[in-house]
Amino acid sequence: MFNIIIAENYDEVSREAFKIMKETVKKDNPVLGLATGSSPIGLYKKMIADHSSNGTSYAKCVTFNLDEYVGISRTHDQSYWTFMHENLFNGLDIPEENIHIPVGDGTDEEAECLKYEEQMKDYTVDLQVLGIGADGHIGFNEPGTPLDSVTHLMELTEVTRKDNARFFDDDINKVPTHAITMGLGTIMRSKKIIVIATSDHKADAIYGMIKGPVSTDCPASVLQNHPDVTVILDRAAASRL
Ligand code: GLP
Repeated sequence: MFNIIIAENYDEVSREAFKIMKETVKKDNPVLGLATGSSPIGLYKKMIADHSSNGTSYAKCVTFNLDEYVGISRTHDQSYWTFMHENLFNGLDIPEENIHIPVGDGTDEEAECLKYEEQMKDYTVDLQVLGIGADGHIGFNEPGTPLDSVTHLMELTEVTRKDNARFFDDDINKVPTHAITMGLGTIMRSKKIIVIATSDHKADAIYGMIKGPVSTDCPASVLQNHPDVTVILDRAAASRL
Protein backbone atom coordinates (compact mmCIF):
# COMPACT_ATOMS: atom_id res chain seq x y z
CA MET A 1 0.00 0.00 0.00
CA PHE A 2 1.40 3.35 -1.02
CA ASN A 3 1.08 6.66 0.72
CA ILE A 4 2.19 9.17 -1.94
CA ILE A 5 3.56 12.59 -1.08
CA ILE A 6 4.24 15.05 -3.90
CA ALA A 7 6.54 17.84 -2.78
CA GLU A 8 7.33 21.17 -4.45
CA ASN A 9 11.10 20.84 -4.40
CA TYR A 10 13.96 18.68 -3.22
CA ASP A 11 14.20 20.38 0.16
CA GLU A 12 10.55 19.56 0.83
CA VAL A 13 11.12 15.97 -0.36
CA SER A 14 13.98 15.66 2.14
CA ARG A 15 11.95 17.32 4.91
CA GLU A 16 9.10 14.81 4.47
CA ALA A 17 11.57 11.92 4.53
CA PHE A 18 13.24 13.32 7.63
CA LYS A 19 9.91 13.54 9.52
CA ILE A 20 9.47 9.78 9.10
CA MET A 21 13.12 9.11 9.97
CA LYS A 22 12.83 11.19 13.14
CA GLU A 23 9.82 9.18 14.34
CA THR A 24 11.82 5.99 13.82
CA VAL A 25 14.94 7.27 15.55
CA LYS A 26 12.87 8.11 18.66
CA LYS A 27 12.20 4.38 19.16
CA ASP A 28 14.33 2.20 21.43
CA ASN A 29 17.18 0.63 19.46
CA PRO A 30 16.03 1.62 15.96
CA VAL A 31 17.17 -0.45 13.00
CA LEU A 32 17.65 1.59 9.83
CA GLY A 33 17.98 0.27 6.29
CA LEU A 34 19.97 2.81 4.31
CA ALA A 35 20.53 3.60 0.65
CA THR A 36 23.17 5.35 -1.41
CA GLY A 37 22.62 7.49 -4.51
CA SER A 38 21.84 11.19 -4.76
CA SER A 39 18.17 10.85 -3.72
CA PRO A 40 18.67 10.39 0.06
CA ILE A 41 21.50 12.96 0.43
CA GLY A 42 19.09 15.74 1.52
CA LEU A 43 17.62 13.43 4.17
CA TYR A 44 21.10 12.55 5.42
CA LYS A 45 22.02 16.26 5.65
CA LYS A 46 18.94 16.82 7.80
CA MET A 47 19.90 13.91 10.08
CA ILE A 48 23.38 15.38 10.54
CA ALA A 49 21.91 18.85 11.24
CA ASP A 50 19.49 17.28 13.75
CA HIS A 51 22.42 15.66 15.53
CA SER A 52 24.65 18.72 15.56
CA SER A 53 21.99 21.41 16.25
CA ASN A 54 19.48 19.53 18.41
CA GLY A 55 21.81 17.02 20.02
CA THR A 56 19.68 14.08 18.84
CA SER A 57 21.69 10.95 19.44
CA TYR A 58 21.84 8.23 16.81
CA ALA A 59 24.11 6.09 19.00
CA LYS A 60 21.51 3.37 19.56
CA CYS A 61 20.79 2.98 15.84
CA VAL A 62 21.86 -0.15 14.02
CA THR A 63 22.14 0.26 10.25
CA PHE A 64 22.15 -2.07 7.26
CA ASN A 65 23.00 -0.72 3.84
CA LEU A 66 21.29 -2.07 0.78
CA ASP A 67 24.27 -2.78 -1.40
CA GLU A 68 27.92 -2.42 -2.36
CA TYR A 69 29.91 -2.62 -5.58
CA VAL A 70 32.03 -5.69 -6.19
CA GLY A 71 35.62 -5.32 -7.31
CA ILE A 72 36.52 -2.00 -5.72
CA SER A 73 37.94 -1.68 -2.23
CA ARG A 74 36.05 -0.12 0.68
CA THR A 75 38.45 2.80 0.63
CA HIS A 76 37.80 3.53 -3.09
CA ASP A 77 36.27 7.01 -3.37
CA GLN A 78 33.17 5.57 -5.10
CA SER A 79 32.55 2.61 -2.79
CA TYR A 80 29.25 2.76 -0.97
CA TRP A 81 31.19 2.39 2.28
CA THR A 82 32.96 5.68 1.47
CA PHE A 83 29.71 7.29 0.30
CA MET A 84 27.92 6.45 3.55
CA HIS A 85 30.75 7.65 5.75
CA GLU A 86 31.16 10.92 3.82
CA ASN A 87 27.44 11.65 3.50
CA LEU A 88 26.11 10.38 6.84
CA PHE A 89 28.09 8.37 9.33
CA ASN A 90 30.98 10.81 9.84
CA GLY A 91 28.41 13.42 10.90
CA LEU A 92 26.57 11.22 13.42
CA ASP A 93 27.42 9.35 16.61
CA ILE A 94 26.55 5.83 15.39
CA PRO A 95 29.26 3.45 16.68
CA GLU A 96 31.13 1.83 13.79
CA GLU A 97 30.19 -1.65 15.06
CA ASN A 98 26.50 -0.82 14.56
CA ILE A 99 27.06 -0.13 10.86
CA HIS A 100 26.63 -2.95 8.33
CA ILE A 101 27.57 -2.61 4.66
CA PRO A 102 28.24 -5.63 2.43
CA VAL A 103 31.92 -6.17 1.64
CA GLY A 104 32.51 -6.33 -2.10
CA ASP A 105 36.28 -6.50 -2.11
CA GLY A 106 36.54 -9.94 -0.52
CA THR A 107 37.46 -13.08 -2.34
CA ASP A 108 34.19 -14.90 -1.84
CA GLU A 109 31.14 -12.81 -2.69
CA GLU A 110 28.73 -15.76 -2.34
CA ALA A 111 29.91 -16.31 1.26
CA GLU A 112 29.54 -12.58 1.95
CA CYS A 113 25.94 -12.64 0.68
CA LEU A 114 25.07 -15.54 2.98
CA LYS A 115 26.79 -13.85 5.93
CA TYR A 116 24.99 -10.55 5.35
CA GLU A 117 21.58 -12.20 5.10
CA GLU A 118 22.31 -14.18 8.31
CA GLN A 119 23.35 -10.99 10.16
CA MET A 120 20.11 -9.33 9.10
CA LYS A 121 18.03 -12.22 10.42
CA ASP A 122 18.85 -11.10 13.98
CA TYR A 123 17.10 -7.77 13.35
CA THR A 124 13.93 -6.30 11.87
CA VAL A 125 14.50 -3.13 9.89
CA ASP A 126 12.17 -0.46 11.29
CA LEU A 127 12.61 1.93 8.40
CA GLN A 128 14.12 1.14 5.00
CA VAL A 129 15.16 4.11 2.86
CA LEU A 130 15.06 3.46 -0.89
CA GLY A 131 15.90 5.33 -4.06
CA ILE A 132 14.93 3.85 -7.42
CA GLY A 133 16.89 3.24 -10.60
CA ALA A 134 15.60 4.40 -14.00
CA ASP A 135 15.04 0.71 -14.84
CA GLY A 136 12.96 0.20 -11.68
CA HIS A 137 15.72 -1.35 -9.59
CA ILE A 138 15.78 -0.99 -5.81
CA GLY A 139 19.05 -1.67 -4.02
CA PHE A 140 20.79 -3.24 -6.98
CA ASN A 141 17.96 -5.66 -7.78
CA GLU A 142 17.85 -5.32 -11.53
CA PRO A 143 14.91 -6.39 -13.75
CA GLY A 144 14.56 -10.17 -13.72
CA THR A 145 15.47 -10.54 -10.03
CA PRO A 146 13.07 -12.96 -8.27
CA LEU A 147 10.63 -11.07 -6.08
CA ASP A 148 11.45 -13.26 -3.05
CA SER A 149 15.24 -13.04 -3.46
CA VAL A 150 17.62 -12.72 -0.50
CA THR A 151 21.04 -11.00 -0.45
CA HIS A 152 22.78 -11.93 -3.68
CA LEU A 153 25.40 -11.08 -6.28
CA MET A 154 23.93 -9.05 -9.15
CA GLU A 155 25.25 -8.28 -12.61
CA LEU A 156 24.45 -4.62 -13.29
CA THR A 157 22.50 -3.62 -16.40
CA GLU A 158 23.88 -1.24 -18.97
CA VAL A 159 21.24 1.36 -18.00
CA THR A 160 22.47 1.31 -14.41
CA ARG A 161 26.15 1.39 -15.36
CA LYS A 162 25.52 4.33 -17.72
CA ASP A 163 23.60 6.19 -14.99
CA ASN A 164 26.42 5.64 -12.54
CA ALA A 165 29.24 6.47 -14.98
CA ARG A 166 28.93 10.11 -13.81
CA PHE A 167 30.67 9.00 -10.61
CA PHE A 168 33.45 7.20 -12.53
CA ASP A 169 34.90 9.99 -14.74
CA ASP A 170 31.94 9.52 -17.14
CA ASP A 171 33.57 6.27 -18.23
CA ILE A 172 31.20 3.27 -18.21
CA ASN A 173 34.22 0.96 -18.39
CA LYS A 174 35.27 2.11 -14.93
CA VAL A 175 31.85 1.29 -13.41
CA PRO A 176 31.90 -2.10 -11.65
CA THR A 177 29.97 -4.82 -13.47
CA HIS A 178 28.62 -6.49 -10.32
CA ALA A 179 27.31 -5.63 -6.88
CA ILE A 180 26.15 -7.37 -3.71
CA THR A 181 22.61 -6.35 -2.85
CA MET A 182 19.95 -7.17 -0.30
CA GLY A 183 17.28 -9.13 -2.17
CA LEU A 184 13.73 -7.99 -2.83
CA GLY A 185 12.52 -10.47 -0.19
CA THR A 186 15.04 -9.02 2.28
CA ILE A 187 13.77 -5.48 1.62
CA MET A 188 10.14 -6.61 1.95
CA ARG A 189 10.78 -7.79 5.55
CA SER A 190 11.23 -4.14 6.68
CA LYS A 191 8.39 -2.78 8.80
CA LYS A 192 8.20 0.54 7.00
CA ILE A 193 9.68 1.78 3.71
CA ILE A 194 10.21 5.20 2.16
CA VAL A 195 11.02 5.64 -1.52
CA ILE A 196 12.59 8.96 -2.53
CA ALA A 197 12.63 9.95 -6.21
CA THR A 198 13.02 13.21 -8.08
CA SER A 199 13.27 14.29 -11.76
CA ASP A 200 11.53 13.10 -14.92
CA HIS A 201 14.32 10.52 -15.39
CA LYS A 202 12.49 8.49 -12.69
CA ALA A 203 8.91 9.06 -13.93
CA ASP A 204 8.62 5.77 -15.85
CA ALA A 205 10.09 3.73 -12.99
CA ILE A 206 7.71 5.39 -10.50
CA TYR A 207 4.78 4.68 -12.82
CA GLY A 208 5.84 1.02 -13.10
CA MET A 209 6.28 0.73 -9.33
CA ILE A 210 2.84 2.12 -8.50
CA LYS A 211 0.60 1.51 -11.49
CA GLY A 212 2.28 -1.31 -13.38
CA PRO A 213 1.75 -5.03 -12.80
CA VAL A 214 3.74 -6.66 -9.99
CA SER A 215 6.46 -8.13 -12.13
CA THR A 216 10.18 -8.84 -12.18
CA ASP A 217 10.32 -6.44 -15.18
CA CYS A 218 10.04 -3.59 -12.66
CA PRO A 219 11.58 -4.86 -9.39
CA ALA A 220 10.15 -1.91 -7.39
CA SER A 221 6.62 -3.09 -8.25
CA VAL A 222 7.02 -5.75 -5.52
CA LEU A 223 6.44 -2.88 -3.07
CA GLN A 224 2.75 -2.99 -4.06
CA ASN A 225 2.62 -6.06 -1.79
CA HIS A 226 4.09 -4.21 1.23
CA PRO A 227 1.68 -2.80 3.85
CA ASP A 228 3.52 0.46 4.63
CA VAL A 229 5.37 2.32 1.86
CA THR A 230 5.57 6.12 1.68
CA VAL A 231 6.67 7.43 -1.72
CA ILE A 232 8.09 10.96 -1.66
CA LEU A 233 8.32 12.58 -5.08
CA ASP A 234 8.77 15.90 -6.78
CA ARG A 235 6.29 16.83 -9.53
CA ALA A 236 8.57 15.62 -12.31
CA ALA A 237 8.98 12.12 -10.84
CA ALA A 238 5.19 12.01 -10.25
CA SER A 239 4.35 13.27 -13.74
CA ARG A 240 3.09 9.92 -15.12
CA LEU A 241 0.85 9.05 -12.18
C1 GLP B 1 22.14 3.08 -7.34
C2 GLP B 1 21.85 2.47 -5.97
C3 GLP B 1 20.37 2.51 -5.67
C4 GLP B 1 19.84 3.91 -5.93
C5 GLP B 1 20.03 4.25 -7.40
C6 GLP B 1 19.46 5.61 -7.77
O1 GLP B 1 21.92 2.19 -8.36
N1 GLP B 1 22.29 1.13 -5.86
O2 GLP B 1 20.17 2.15 -4.31
O3 GLP B 1 18.48 3.97 -5.60
O4 GLP B 1 21.41 4.26 -7.64
O5 GLP B 1 20.38 6.61 -7.52
P1 GLP B 1 20.07 8.15 -7.51
O6 GLP B 1 19.32 8.42 -6.24
O7 GLP B 1 21.41 8.82 -7.52
O8 GLP B 1 19.27 8.45 -8.71
